[in-house]
Amino acid sequence: MHTDNAQLHVSAPAVTESLRVRRLQPRMGAEISGLDLSTPLAPANRDEIRALLLRHKVLVFRDQPITRQQHLAFARAFGDIYLHPTTAKPDGAEPGIDLISAVEARQRVKNLRFGAWHTDTSWDIRPALGGILRAIHIPEVGGDTIWVDCAAVYAGLEPDLKQTIDSLHLVHDHHSALQKVGRHQPVVAHPLVRTHPETGELLLYVNFLQNPSVLGWDRVDSDALIERLRREITRPEYQVRVKWEKGSVAFWDNRATLHYAVQDYGDFPRVMERVLVASDDVPHRVRAPSIA
Ligand code: SIN
Repeated sequence: MHTDNAQLHVSAPAVTESLRVRRLQPRMGAEISGLDLSTPLAPANRDEIRALLLRHKVLVFRDQPITRQQHLAFARAFGDIYLHPTTAKPDGAEPGIDLISAVEARQRVKNLRFGAWHTDTSWDIRPALGGILRAIHIPEVGGDTIWVDCAAVYAGLEPDLKQTIDSLHLVHDHHSALQKVGRHQPVVAHPLVRTHPETGELLLYVNFLQNPSVLGWDRVDSDALIERLRREITRPEYQVRVKWEKGSVAFWDNRATLHYAVQDYGDFPRVMERVLVASDDVPHRVRAPSIA
């Protein structure tokens, strides 16, 4: 058996006496219990959550009826709050709380039938480190969120495809939405394969919501490559699917994953609130020094 797989089959031990970890899938995702997100995080717990985030990439906390202030306080334990310029905001909410509303999305996107694989704020020079999403009003069934492990996707690519994409850059175009809110910034291109700044993993970095195109390629070739990568991303082996419950909170590593909000709940007015954690990292690719 390949070493990676052997490691994947080892069940995760409890990391402290109070914190418990239940893995959701072999590759990624864990449910964490034994923590009350309405109270300030002890430094030891914060460090463990951070380590668990790097390892499992998506952490789910159940039965956490927290307020907006507590949501923000939990996020602040991991970095500055990222103020998203274009997402809707709930009425009267503090800066940093983003409204993820099905009603608003249906007004913005006509005939919204499917989600799209994306990572948040990849149009920025320094995209967000992570997202913390809280279920506010969810359907009895449906409206799940799926995450994909971008390191697993990259590792699983055929060698010829890896070689093709290894030095490419991808354009992440959120220009018109940014213009509408008066934010003028150049359109950004990031490496298609980036190095995780903390784990060193190589990650496929594509955002299907941002009109992706390969820098310097013609549109037809670029679209064909992006479509090929989409097929790799949609393999269930690389994913975890989270079913929301009242009081559920999910914290994901936005550098290491893409996510997809499943649009299978008809006209139900699903509402979530999200806080993003900022990062200093400019997506980059670390290359091994060549041997002379
Ligand atoms: C998001 O795209 O950040 C939110 C995902 C969701 O609503 O499930």
